[in-house]
Amino acid sequence: MCGIVGYIGSKEAYEILIKGLHRLEYRGYDSAGIALINGNRELSVYKAKGKVSALEDSVAEKDTTGTIGIAHTRWATHGEPNVVNAHPHYSQSKTLALVHNGIIENYKTLREVLVKHGYKFDSETDTEVLVELIEYMKESHGCDLVRAVHLALKNVVGAYAIAILDKNNPNRIIAARKGSPLIVGIGGTKEGETPEFFLGSDATPIIEYTDQVVYLKDEEIVVLNRDGSYEITNLNNVQQTPQLQTLQVSLDQLEKGGYPHFMLKEIHEQPKALRTCIGSRINKRQKDVILSGIIDHKDKFLKARRIIICACGTSWHAALIGKYFIEEAAHIPVEVEYASEFRYRNPVIFPDDVMIAVSQSGETADTLAAIKLAKEKGAFIYGVCNVIGSSIAREAESGTYIHVGPEIGVASTKAFTGQVTTLSLIGLAIAKEKKTLSDEIYTMLVDELNNIPEKMQWTLDNNKGIDNFAQMFTYCKNFIYLGRGYNYPVALEGALKLKEISYIHAEGYPAAEMKHGPIALVDEEMPVVVIAPKRGMYDKVVSNIQEIKSRKGKIISVVTEGDETVRVLSDYCFVIPDTRDCFVPLLAVLPLQLLSYYVAVAKGRNVDQPRNLAKSVTVE
Ligand code: F6R
Repeated sequence: MCGIVGYIGSKEAYEILIKGLHRLEYRGYDSAGIALINGNRELSVYKAKGKVSALEDSVAEKDTTGTIGIAHTRWATHGEPNVVNAHPHYSQSKTLALVHNGIIENYKTLREVLVKHGYKFDSETDTEVLVELIEYMKESHGCDLVRAVHLALKNVVGAYAIAILDKNNPNRIIAARKGSPLIVGIGGTKEGETPEFFLGSDATPIIEYTDQVVYLKDEEIVVLNRDGSYEITNLNNVQQTPQLQTLQVSLDQLEKGGYPHFMLKEIHEQPKALRTCIGSRINKRQKDVILSGIIDHKDKFLKARRIIICACGTSWHAALIGKYFIEEAAHIPVEVEYASEFRYRNPVIFPDDVMIAVSQSGETADTLAAIKLAKEKGAFIYGVCNVIGSSIAREAESGTYIHVGPEIGVASTKAFTGQVTTLSLIGLAIAKEKKTLSDEIYTMLVDELNNIPEKMQWTLDNNKGIDNFAQMFTYCKNFIYLGRGYNYPVALEGALKLKEISYIHAEGYPAAEMKHGPIALVDEEMPVVVIAPKRGMYDKVVSNIQEIKSRKGKIISVVTEGDETVRVLSDYCFVIPDTRDCFVPLLAVLPLQLLSYYVAVAKGRNVDQPRNLAKSVTVE
């Protein structure tokens, strides 16, 4: 939640900060704000409710000059989204301005103490408490600002990524992180260039200017000086050695590339993204899976009593498909846990348990807390993340990146198929080590997984016209999604996609569960989406369709190319090419993503930034 940008250098900061906020808007879009110090050493803070464009409109007549600044796009946690609660927050003397991503859990106690010392608060936020605390430390200890930041952060319980401007020193930005991500971009390093620094909650505001970055670690504080020097210390003021890294993201991955929305671009990118995800992990000639993350720790998987896959939301749906596949291929019992539930139970963990954490962002607070808990209890932690260098990826002891490129649309699409593919690769790699599949079946599955990107392209090419068809459903209040076996999680995912971007209520069920209650909901007004490939439990799914049909429900089906039986029973059909049961989700989910996209567009929804949501949930 919330995005932070910062700049210090010789360029005008405003344009860089606004562009950066637009790139980070997926993280939150309740309000936005910016702080700049101009050439007269005046510190100005401008804020607006709503999107970054509202901020731009509101500063049109204001002084936005200055070569140093910080900015923020908010997803409200403490205090409703309004101008007062928007960041940056001034300190009482108005000499400091601070932006913050995270939650200060003990802010009430800190606030009470500060009130006793005469501090007044304008907002309801935990962030204002933090900037006042820093000012209080500076005054009461008579120390320099960097020391005051150390002292203040030592008193803070919770998560933070912060950046601070000091009116009295327009030549440095101070920033720090714990639990929430923060990246420093180092620019102007070539001969003849002027040094400059960038800050970002992720790499997207930075990549246009430099690919040289340092990922701040937990409890690190960085001071970025205008002369190009910088220093990182920990909370005990001990100097840390920065690890310079080169970003792997390109600018065109962050643009819409001619599509009206990132979500549509990302849906259509899936064949290419999965080709990269599979990449060198499948040796095409020998039809073999090579995953160094598994090979290097094969003893952990060979002796694993069970695997626990932990995730949230869409990643949890991918995890469920992973469970079915790993159990079938590698014969290891797999449990799938909602990270938010797991972390607050007292779960039984055995030292020979393996936990796989699945997370696109690698920053989801609940998933991060769940893996820390499992690690403490002795489990081996394996990460399946998209964002390179993210907190979950770093906390894991081994892992496999899904490598589908940046996902910017808030509704997850290509990350889902990347996660399912990666979990399939993991299942195959473990099966190879455990010898649980015959050579023939193993080779056939590897070969078929390798064919999936092509079959995805076929699916996208052969399901045109969903935009017209979707118009009919704009007035629906409810949808049901049904699937069995590997396609039950696809039903859950299809329903979630529709809910989150069109705001139509939708539920996913295992098809056979219908008769145990939900079938009471079916009437002529109820669209029922059924994933019915000509595989596995086909005949049983056909019976489920007939049960719905006889209650006058409208059937929208996903069928295997050439299947006339279900086509005749359906009001509308999406087609997919034939594939093995375990890989059907990778094809069947595509028309469901498109259906939710086009229904949402027809309803005039903001598809890339649906209400109340943010891309990564870095708070509880
Ligand atoms: C839905 C969606 C969310 C995320 C969930 C977990 O489209 O995107 O449900 O899947 O918030 O996020 P990650 O995968 O980043 O841990």
